[in-house]
Amino acid sequence: MLTGALNVRVFASEPEAAAACAALVAAAIREKPSLVLGLPTGRTPLNVYRELVALHQRGQVDFSRVTTFNLDEFLGLAPDDPSSYRAYMERHFFQHINLAPERIHFFDGSAERAERECVRYDLKLLEAGGLDLLLLGIGPNGHVAFIEPGDSLQAGSHRARLSRESRLAVASLFGDDVWKVPLAALTLGMAGMLQARRVILLAFGVSKAAAVTAMLRGPITPMCPASFLQLHGNVEVWLDAESGRGVDGSR
Ligand code: GLP
Repeated sequence: MLTGALNVRVFASEPEAAAACAALVAAAIREKPSLVLGLPTGRTPLNVYRELVALHQRGQVDFSRVTTFNLDEFLGLAPDDPSSYRAYMERHFFQHINLAPERIHFFDGSAERAERECVRYDLKLLEAGGLDLLLLGIGPNGHVAFIEPGDSLQAGSHRARLSRESRLAVASLFGDDVWKVPLAALTLGMAGMLQARRVILLAFGVSKAAAVTAMLRGPITPMCPASFLQLHGNVEVWLDAESGRGVDGSR
Protein backbone atom coordinates (compact mmCIF):
# COMPACT_ATOMS: atom_id res chain seq x y z
CA MET A 1 0.00 0.00 0.00
CA LEU A 2 1.41 3.42 -0.95
CA THR A 3 0.37 6.32 1.29
CA GLY A 4 1.97 9.53 0.06
CA ALA A 5 5.68 8.84 -0.04
CA LEU A 6 5.52 6.18 2.66
CA ASN A 7 5.08 2.49 1.96
CA VAL A 8 2.82 0.85 4.51
CA ARG A 9 2.77 -2.84 5.41
CA VAL A 10 0.25 -4.18 7.85
CA PHE A 11 1.28 -7.47 9.52
CA ALA A 12 -0.99 -10.06 11.12
CA SER A 13 0.82 -9.63 14.44
CA GLU A 14 3.66 -7.78 16.11
CA PRO A 15 5.88 -10.91 16.44
CA GLU A 16 5.46 -11.56 12.72
CA ALA A 17 6.57 -8.01 11.91
CA ALA A 18 9.50 -8.29 14.32
CA ALA A 19 10.68 -11.56 12.73
CA ALA A 20 10.42 -10.03 9.24
CA CYS A 21 12.33 -6.95 10.41
CA ALA A 22 15.12 -9.05 11.94
CA ALA A 23 15.32 -11.09 8.71
CA LEU A 24 15.58 -7.86 6.71
CA VAL A 25 18.39 -6.53 8.92
CA ALA A 26 20.26 -9.86 8.70
CA ALA A 27 19.89 -9.88 4.90
CA ALA A 28 21.15 -6.28 4.70
CA ILE A 29 24.22 -7.27 6.76
CA ARG A 30 24.89 -10.31 4.58
CA GLU A 31 24.72 -8.05 1.53
CA LYS A 32 26.92 -5.36 3.12
CA PRO A 33 28.87 -6.70 6.13
CA SER A 34 30.01 -3.16 7.05
CA LEU A 35 26.40 -1.89 7.28
CA VAL A 36 25.80 1.31 9.29
CA LEU A 37 22.67 0.76 11.36
CA GLY A 38 20.57 3.31 13.24
CA LEU A 39 18.92 1.76 16.29
CA PRO A 40 15.97 2.79 18.45
CA THR A 41 15.06 1.86 21.99
CA GLY A 42 11.68 1.53 23.69
CA ARG A 43 9.35 -1.47 23.81
CA THR A 44 8.76 -1.62 20.05
CA PRO A 45 12.12 -3.05 18.89
CA LEU A 46 12.51 -5.58 21.73
CA ASN A 47 11.32 -8.54 19.67
CA VAL A 48 13.46 -7.46 16.73
CA TYR A 49 16.54 -7.52 18.96
CA ARG A 50 15.50 -10.90 20.39
CA GLU A 51 15.11 -12.32 16.88
CA LEU A 52 18.45 -10.89 15.75
CA VAL A 53 20.18 -12.42 18.78
CA ALA A 54 18.60 -15.79 17.89
CA LEU A 55 19.75 -15.47 14.26
CA HIS A 56 23.25 -14.63 15.48
CA GLN A 57 23.30 -17.62 17.84
CA ARG A 58 22.32 -19.86 14.93
CA GLY A 59 25.26 -18.46 12.95
CA GLN A 60 23.00 -16.68 10.47
CA VAL A 61 24.24 -13.13 11.03
CA ASP A 62 27.69 -11.78 11.82
CA PHE A 63 27.87 -8.29 13.34
CA SER A 64 31.67 -8.11 13.49
CA ARG A 65 31.97 -5.40 10.81
CA VAL A 66 28.69 -3.60 11.49
CA THR A 67 28.61 -0.04 12.86
CA THR A 68 25.71 1.13 15.01
CA PHE A 69 24.37 4.51 16.06
CA ASN A 70 21.75 4.68 18.75
CA LEU A 71 19.37 7.54 18.25
CA ASP A 72 19.02 9.08 21.67
CA GLU A 73 20.02 9.07 25.33
CA PHE A 74 18.72 10.67 28.50
CA LEU A 75 20.62 13.76 29.56
CA GLY A 76 22.38 13.38 32.90
CA LEU A 77 22.63 9.58 32.81
CA ALA A 78 26.03 7.90 32.54
CA PRO A 79 26.28 4.96 30.12
CA ASP A 80 26.40 2.47 33.00
CA ASP A 81 23.30 3.87 34.70
CA PRO A 82 20.78 0.98 34.58
CA SER A 83 18.06 3.37 33.34
CA SER A 84 20.14 4.66 30.43
CA TYR A 85 19.38 3.64 26.88
CA ARG A 86 22.98 2.44 26.63
CA ALA A 87 22.31 -0.03 29.46
CA TYR A 88 19.05 -1.06 27.76
CA MET A 89 20.95 -1.81 24.54
CA GLU A 90 23.62 -3.79 26.41
CA ARG A 91 20.95 -5.86 28.17
CA HIS A 92 18.76 -6.58 25.19
CA PHE A 93 21.21 -6.69 22.30
CA PHE A 94 24.86 -5.75 22.45
CA GLN A 95 26.03 -8.26 25.08
CA HIS A 96 24.50 -11.12 23.11
CA ILE A 97 26.11 -10.42 19.73
CA ASN A 98 29.58 -9.83 18.28
CA LEU A 99 29.57 -6.09 17.55
CA ALA A 100 33.00 -4.49 17.88
CA PRO A 101 32.77 -2.08 20.87
CA GLU A 102 34.56 0.67 18.92
CA ARG A 103 31.85 0.59 16.27
CA ILE A 104 29.01 1.15 18.75
CA HIS A 105 28.08 4.85 18.81
CA PHE A 106 25.97 6.48 21.47
CA PHE A 107 25.38 9.89 22.98
CA ASP A 108 27.04 10.10 26.38
CA GLY A 109 24.22 11.48 28.54
CA SER A 110 26.72 12.43 31.23
CA ALA A 111 28.88 14.57 28.92
CA GLU A 112 29.57 17.95 30.53
CA ARG A 113 28.68 19.98 27.46
CA ALA A 114 25.65 18.72 25.57
CA GLU A 115 26.34 20.82 22.45
CA ARG A 116 29.87 19.49 22.14
CA GLU A 117 28.62 15.92 22.63
CA CYS A 118 26.10 16.42 19.80
CA VAL A 119 28.83 17.75 17.49
CA ARG A 120 31.00 14.71 18.36
CA TYR A 121 28.14 12.34 17.54
CA ASP A 122 27.30 14.09 14.24
CA LEU A 123 30.96 13.99 13.18
CA LYS A 124 31.12 10.26 13.88
CA LEU A 125 27.98 9.80 11.80
CA LEU A 126 29.47 11.85 8.99
CA GLU A 127 32.73 9.83 9.15
CA ALA A 128 30.70 6.61 8.94
CA GLY A 129 29.02 7.93 5.78
CA GLY A 130 25.54 8.26 7.30
CA LEU A 131 23.08 5.50 8.10
CA ASP A 132 22.50 2.69 5.60
CA LEU A 133 19.48 1.36 7.44
CA LEU A 134 17.56 3.16 10.16
CA LEU A 135 15.05 1.37 12.38
CA LEU A 136 12.58 3.68 14.08
CA GLY A 137 9.77 3.55 16.58
CA ILE A 138 7.28 6.36 17.06
CA GLY A 139 5.98 8.04 20.21
CA PRO A 140 2.23 8.45 20.78
CA ASN A 141 2.73 12.20 20.16
CA GLY A 142 4.49 11.59 16.83
CA HIS A 143 8.04 11.92 18.12
CA VAL A 144 10.83 9.95 16.47
CA ALA A 145 14.04 9.30 18.42
CA PHE A 146 13.55 12.18 20.89
CA ILE A 147 12.68 14.78 18.28
CA GLU A 148 9.69 16.17 20.13
CA PRO A 149 6.72 18.09 18.68
CA GLY A 150 7.23 21.86 18.71
CA ASP A 151 7.24 25.05 16.64
CA SER A 152 10.34 24.06 14.72
CA LEU A 153 12.77 21.17 14.24
CA GLN A 154 16.56 21.12 14.31
CA ALA A 155 18.59 19.53 11.54
CA GLY A 156 21.55 18.42 13.63
CA SER A 157 21.73 16.37 16.79
CA HIS A 158 20.58 18.38 19.77
CA ARG A 159 19.40 18.57 23.35
CA ALA A 160 15.64 18.05 23.49
CA ARG A 161 13.30 18.94 26.33
CA LEU A 162 11.10 15.91 26.93
CA SER A 163 7.34 16.35 26.90
CA ARG A 164 5.32 15.06 29.82
CA GLU A 165 3.74 12.51 27.49
CA SER A 166 7.13 11.14 26.46
CA ARG A 167 8.35 11.07 30.05
CA LEU A 168 5.25 9.09 31.05
CA ALA A 169 5.86 6.67 28.18
CA VAL A 170 9.35 5.80 29.43
CA ALA A 171 8.59 5.81 33.18
CA SER A 172 8.91 2.00 33.28
CA LEU A 173 12.67 2.41 32.83
CA PHE A 174 12.65 4.47 36.04
CA GLY A 175 10.66 2.20 38.35
CA ASP A 176 7.37 3.62 37.01
CA ASP A 177 8.17 6.95 38.68
CA VAL A 178 7.74 9.72 36.12
CA TRP A 179 9.46 12.21 38.47
CA LYS A 180 12.67 10.23 38.08
CA VAL A 181 12.61 10.51 34.27
CA PRO A 182 15.14 13.12 33.11
CA LEU A 183 13.71 16.36 31.74
CA ALA A 184 15.88 16.32 28.63
CA ALA A 185 17.65 14.00 26.21
CA LEU A 186 20.20 14.12 23.42
CA THR A 187 18.82 13.07 20.08
CA LEU A 188 19.72 12.61 16.45
CA GLY A 189 18.35 15.50 14.38
CA MET A 190 15.98 15.37 11.43
CA ALA A 191 18.81 15.74 8.89
CA GLY A 192 20.56 12.58 10.11
CA MET A 193 17.24 10.80 9.89
CA LEU A 194 16.32 12.01 6.40
CA GLN A 195 19.81 11.22 5.12
CA ALA A 196 19.50 7.55 6.08
CA ARG A 197 19.40 5.50 2.89
CA ARG A 198 16.56 3.26 4.03
CA VAL A 199 14.13 3.62 6.94
CA ILE A 200 11.85 1.03 8.54
CA LEU A 201 9.47 2.54 11.10
CA LEU A 202 7.72 0.07 13.40
CA ALA A 203 4.54 0.89 15.29
CA PHE A 204 2.34 -1.57 17.13
CA GLY A 205 -0.81 -1.29 19.22
CA VAL A 206 -3.74 1.06 19.39
CA SER A 207 -1.81 3.69 21.35
CA LYS A 208 0.18 4.44 18.17
CA ALA A 209 -2.80 4.63 15.77
CA ALA A 210 -3.32 8.41 15.97
CA ALA A 211 0.38 9.16 15.55
CA VAL A 212 0.59 6.77 12.60
CA THR A 213 -2.39 8.43 10.90
CA ALA A 214 -0.92 11.90 11.49
CA MET A 215 2.45 10.76 10.12
CA LEU A 216 0.94 9.24 6.99
CA ARG A 217 -2.06 11.42 6.27
CA GLY A 218 -1.42 14.69 8.03
CA PRO A 219 0.45 17.77 6.87
CA ILE A 220 4.22 17.84 7.24
CA THR A 221 4.53 19.74 10.48
CA PRO A 222 6.97 19.99 13.39
CA MET A 223 3.95 19.29 15.59
CA CYS A 224 4.28 15.70 14.30
CA PRO A 225 8.02 15.18 13.71
CA ALA A 226 7.43 11.78 12.09
CA SER A 227 5.48 13.54 9.30
CA PHE A 228 8.83 14.77 7.91
CA LEU A 229 9.48 11.18 6.83
CA GLN A 230 7.01 11.88 4.00
CA LEU A 231 9.90 13.79 2.41
CA HIS A 232 12.13 10.70 2.39
CA GLY A 233 11.94 8.48 -0.67
CA ASN A 234 12.61 5.14 0.99
CA VAL A 235 10.58 4.68 4.17
CA GLU A 236 8.52 1.64 5.04
CA VAL A 237 6.03 1.81 7.87
CA TRP A 238 5.37 -1.59 9.41
CA LEU A 239 2.20 -1.87 11.46
CA ASP A 240 -0.10 -4.35 13.11
CA ALA A 241 -3.89 -4.19 12.74
CA GLU A 242 -4.28 -1.97 15.82
CA SER A 243 -1.74 0.68 14.91
CA GLY A 244 -2.94 0.62 11.30
CA ARG A 245 -6.62 1.06 12.07
CA GLY A 246 -6.75 4.62 10.69
CA VAL A 247 -4.62 3.96 7.64
CA ASP A 248 -7.14 2.77 5.08
CA GLY A 249 -9.71 5.29 6.26
CA SER A 250 -12.29 2.55 6.71
CA ARG A 251 -12.52 2.66 10.50
C1 GLP B 1 10.98 6.46 23.14
C2 GLP B 1 12.25 6.65 22.29
C3 GLP B 1 11.96 6.45 20.85
C4 GLP B 1 10.92 5.37 20.70
C5 GLP B 1 9.61 5.90 21.23
C6 GLP B 1 8.52 4.85 21.34
O1 GLP B 1 10.90 7.30 24.19
N1 GLP B 1 12.95 7.87 22.49
O2 GLP B 1 13.16 6.13 20.16
O3 GLP B 1 10.77 5.00 19.37
O4 GLP B 1 9.78 6.58 22.44
O5 GLP B 1 8.72 4.00 22.40
P1 GLP B 1 7.99 2.61 22.56
O6 GLP B 1 8.54 1.74 21.52
O7 GLP B 1 8.33 2.14 23.95
O8 GLP B 1 6.54 2.87 22.39
